Amino acid sequence: MKKTYAVIGYPVSHSISPAIHQQALNALEIDASYVPFEITCANQAAAFSGLKALGIDGFNITAPYKEAIIPYLDELADSAKLAQAVNTVKKTDTGYVGYNTDGDGFIASLKEDFKALTLETRFLIIGAGGAAKGILEAMKAQGYNNITITNRTLATAENLAELLNCQSMDLETAQANLADFDCIVQTTSVGMDASSEALPIELTGLRADTFVSDLIYNPQETAFLKAAGSNPKQNGLGMLIYQAALAFEIWTGKWPDIDLMYNAANEKGF
Ligand code: ATR
Repeated sequence: MKKTYAVIGYPVSHSISPAIHQQALNALEIDASYVPFEITCANQAAAFSGLKALGIDGFNITAPYKEAIIPYLDELADSAKLAQAVNTVKKTDTGYVGYNTDGDGFIASLKEDFKALTLETRFLIIGAGGAAKGILEAMKAQGYNNITITNRTLATAENLAELLNCQSMDLETAQANLADFDCIVQTTSVGMDASSEALPIELTGLRADTFVSDLIYNPQETAFLKAAGSNPKQNGLGMLIYQAALAFEIWTGKWPDIDLMYNAANEKGF
């Protein structure tokens, strides 16, 4: 029978997931559709139960439902247990299983763009919210050891650092010691507003070879990435592509054509 996959969230009208998944499905001649469902908060319980009742084969979850979906699932994979958030669900013989491919997707995109990456790379993570936690859990699981977290609210960074056995540092100290870091990762929402020039941290004092990553892909170049000048850098598009590829693999057992996924995103303006 033809398979059906979906992305659920609010909003999802601008999501590029349908385009990248559908093209990858078509290229592998997998008989399946991938559709977006925009679900309001008031309808979330009915929608989650409805997806299961319909027997949908798998779905992605985007904001704001990555945590809310958890009680509706029958099992969580380790990746979702660690992050306490789910971005991918697969129907199995024993029920619906939740996964989180965001963290491993981020690391895969970093490996693609930051060739000097090693387990000893000294990371500065800016932000200590859900996005930071997601990538940090995966980084720790993969053996990255040299990680410092900084955040506007220092206590949040300290708590996350203690939980994950990382270092924490206040923003001023991190800024004064920027040259000590090989890779800086921006995980806050600062920069999502394209008209804002606000920076979560000033980048003066940055070494020329320090890799700069911003998890935001819309806008494509945040004020933070602009401030990184000619340093090697990436936005969040690679993370988006690789989290999708990992979800695709969970559902189909096949690795999709990454270039095709990038092309599909480019066609949507990214
Ligand atoms: P997400 O799930 O996207 O990470 P979140 O859990 O609400 O969202 O976390 C948002 C992160 O962005 C936090 O690190 C937050 O800092 P605080 O802990 O100090 O709130 C950070 N953040 C949001 N707005 C910010 C701003 N204007 N300046 C600096 N940091 C900001």
